[in-house]
Amino acid sequence: MTDRALTVGVVKEAAAGERRVALVPEVVDRVRGLGADVVVEAGAGAAAHFPDEDYAARDARVVPGEQVYADADVVVCVTTPQPDARQRLRDGQVLLGLLGPLQSPTLAKEWAGAGVTAVSLDLLPRTLSRAQGMDALTSQANVAGYKAAVLAADTYGGYFPMLMTAAGTVKPAQVLVLGAGVAGLQAMATARRLGALVTGYDVRPEAHDQVTATGARFLELESVRSAVGEGGYARALTAEETQAQQAEMAERIGRFDVVVTTAQVPGGRPPLLVTGAALDGMRAGSVVVDLAAGPRGGNVEGVVPDATTTVASGVTVVGAGNLPAQVPQAASTAYARNVAALLGLLVRDGALTIDLDDEVLGDVVVTHGGEVVNAAVARVVDEVDGDQA
Ligand code: NAI
Repeated sequence: MTDRALTVGVVKEAAAGERRVALVPEVVDRVRGLGADVVVEAGAGAAAHFPDEDYAARDARVVPGEQVYADADVVVCVTTPQPDARQRLRDGQVLLGLLGPLQSPTLAKEWAGAGVTAVSLDLLPRTLSRAQGMDALTSQANVAGYKAAVLAADTYGGYFPMLMTAAGTVKPAQVLVLGAGVAGLQAMATARRLGALVTGYDVRPEAHDQVTATGARFLELESVRSAVGEGGYARALTAEETQAQQAEMAERIGRFDVVVTTAQVPGGRPPLLVTGAALDGMRAGSVVVDLAAGPRGGNVEGVVPDATTTVASGVTVVGAGNLPAQVPQAASTAYARNVAALLGLLVRDGALTIDLDDEVLGDVVVTHGGEVVNAAVARVVDEVDGDQA
């Protein structure tokens, strides 16, 4: 089993609340099919209900964490390992995961300094069709959108579907989803499947057809007709547009029982779509789930990430945390397939090949040969260095 040229190692995630694992047993075969041995840290899949025995049954070796770092040529993870584990990374080793180097440029310097080849799935060129099987942002956003709708239904004190009972008819819930990207569209589709009447909204005109394809209605706002930026993403609105959008939203939001917000602008703070005034205009018992809530704010005024609050009007505001981690089996399985697809590009004839001329690898490889090789990350690193000088 150890006579193969390459070893892929799976570490146990150590971030608080993280329950995902980067490789699941059913995907071990696919990685071994590339000519690699697989070593797995004991207990790595436990929180996602993938026991060590299931990895061993696929001929993966289950070992202590330090052994994974010692044996692996490629260490796969979901999010960046904690500092104590990162110290074990060595020269020439590949670290593959959702590493967030644009948000944490000092880590890129750390990896370059240690000679580590860091490969980050969040830098994937998402519009390339051959990269779609590797698109972990999409696979995890899908899980998040699903869970947001389920969480909203669970938090709401009424039914989502219309029900006809002997005691009379119950009207279906009116659900509004703001932002029709991957997560938003999945939230709409899931709320529809639960029987709610769903309305969707986005500032990208092409989202119109995608919203109606889920069976939802599209909310037309006069204030912002189109706000498209680079790469098919939304652009940040101007201050005037933001104000107009917020005011119109506040007028329209009161008829909805449940609102799920998913709006993001690449590289920017999440846009504030639901103001305190809008919350005041909603009925007591309404529920708002903010998927964009995080350290940089959220789509809802006053939202607290990872916490549920009730505002004076009696509206419950849920600051969603790491939702994919709350659906760990599905999220890990999808993520593992993304990882295996990217490994397929990194491994040729059973050996690691870091071809920076490849248009996918040219984007996802952050550091290699002691340098920060991704141009966007290098720019952020220079900015941070400039600020410190
Ligand atoms: P995201 O997470 O960056 O943003 C979520 C949504 O929020 C987007 O639809 C955006 O338009 C919307 N938004 C931003 N500001 C807003 C505002 N002020 N008001 C209302 N909505 C606002 O987006 P995600 O899910 O990562 O994808 C964004 C785009 O990329 C979509 O067009 C998606 O279809 C596209 N995409 C294309 C892929 C491909 O071609 N293979 C793969 C993945 C995504």
